[in-house]
Amino acid sequence: MDVFTLRSGIMHAEDVPLPAIAEAVGTPVYVYSLAKLTERARAFRQGLAGLDRPLLAFAVKANPNLSVLRVLGREGYGADVVSGGELTRSLAAGIAPGDIVFSGVGKTHAEMTQGLEAGIGQFNIESEEEGRELAALAASRGTVARCALRVNPDVDARTHAKISTGRSENKFGVPLGRAAEIFAALASEAGLEMRGVAVHIGSQLAELEPLETAFGKLGALIAELRAAGHAITHADLGGGLGVSYRHGERYPTAAEYGEMVARATKGWDVRLTFEPGRFIAAEAGVLLTRTIRTKRGGNGPPFVVVDAAMNDLARPALYGAYHEFEAVEPTGARAVAHIVGPICETGDTFAMNRDCDALEAGDLAVFRTAGAYGATMASSYNSRGFVPEVLVDGDRFAVVADRIAPAAIMDAERVPEWLA
Ligand code: LLP
Repeated sequence: MDVFTLRSGIMHAEDVPLPAIAEAVGTPVYVYSLAKLTERARAFRQGLAGLDRPLLAFAVKANPNLSVLRVLGREGYGADVVSGGELTRSLAAGIAPGDIVFSGVGKTHAEMTQGLEAGIGQFNIESEEEGRELAALAASRGTVARCALRVNPDVDARTHAKISTGRSENKFGVPLGRAAEIFAALASEAGLEMRGVAVHIGSQLAELEPLETAFGKLGALIAELRAAGHAITHADLGGGLGVSYRHGERYPTAAEYGEMVARATKGWDVRLTFEPGRFIAAEAGVLLTRTIRTKRGGNGPPFVVVDAAMNDLARPALYGAYHEFEAVEPTGARAVAHIVGPICETGDTFAMNRDCDALEAGDLAVFRTAGAYGATMASSYNSRGFVPEVLVDGDRFAVVADRIAPAAIMDAERVPEWLA
């Protein structure tokens, strides 16, 4: 079900016309649909219905907005966090500490302590060094950290190089070949309860096969660890399921994913954790923007200059990512254009030679599929502010993150006396 649809020629988010949001909040602005978030969260759960009590831990990095986390918490989701900030947010949103897993190669001692104090469900350990440090911290506090060892299976996820995490040259996890030895070493630490293994090979995966290969390797490791006498009760299969960014593209469904998981994990006899991010949030959001002006090009098509920029939605600049771009009130006229933001570098280009709705100065438009890795990756480059976020529920909407004005950011800066 698409929730960003035309009604009487005007794009709505659920039952709210987007021009009403632009009018009330200004542009650019991220707009999220509660119905779509809920639908995706339920679809993912439904896809895994054949499993026994899986923990679904939303990858907070995809969309850390407090209200978004609340919606997912309400749907029974836990959280996969990768920083103290994400942990703080997840707790503030009411996620049960026991349903939080902490991933990442660079957990600081302060972050580990924060996790221990909160009593989170699981640390995903990414190196022997990290495990030893966590063990010492836990022991000094007289507590035990529940842990899984994240392995790097050296599997090509066949996705963009910058979001691939499961090749041996990537920084994540411990090499599969050394996993048993490292697991045994960490299992001997009094401060750790080594209870499982974890894997996450990358994001925006278009195929299930690389995942199945990685899960197969994880299954073999579980058997090896058990044979060595370890009690393995948990396995974390990460996230990574891709979504379609272009109309008409087909991506694996939650049901297909669930079928593959059931097949790959048959007989494991563990509690499985999943860390979906994009699959839940991407399609639930758009970035609403207004055309500042159109500008004639050199030899090529005209430039449509919109008020959103690479600081607001970084994916096209960072990964060459494609986002559908559509007028909020399309006239039926089409044009080929370069879609650019106001920032002073050529990287601030959303699309080249895009065949899209014709737009004129003042017209509203959306970048679709912006609910994941959108607002969360924003910066204030070019001394632009931070874009606000709006959550729609039926015919009502609320600002769930204020716009942060450039002046507010400047307020945090100081000029030392010796410069004044
Ligand atoms: N678990 C771990 C350990 C991760 O590193 C990630 C994503 C996820 C789960 C969630 O993956 P998902 O289900 O969303 O694919 N900024 C990039 C995506 C970076 C993903 C990083 N890790 C983008 O805009 O495409």
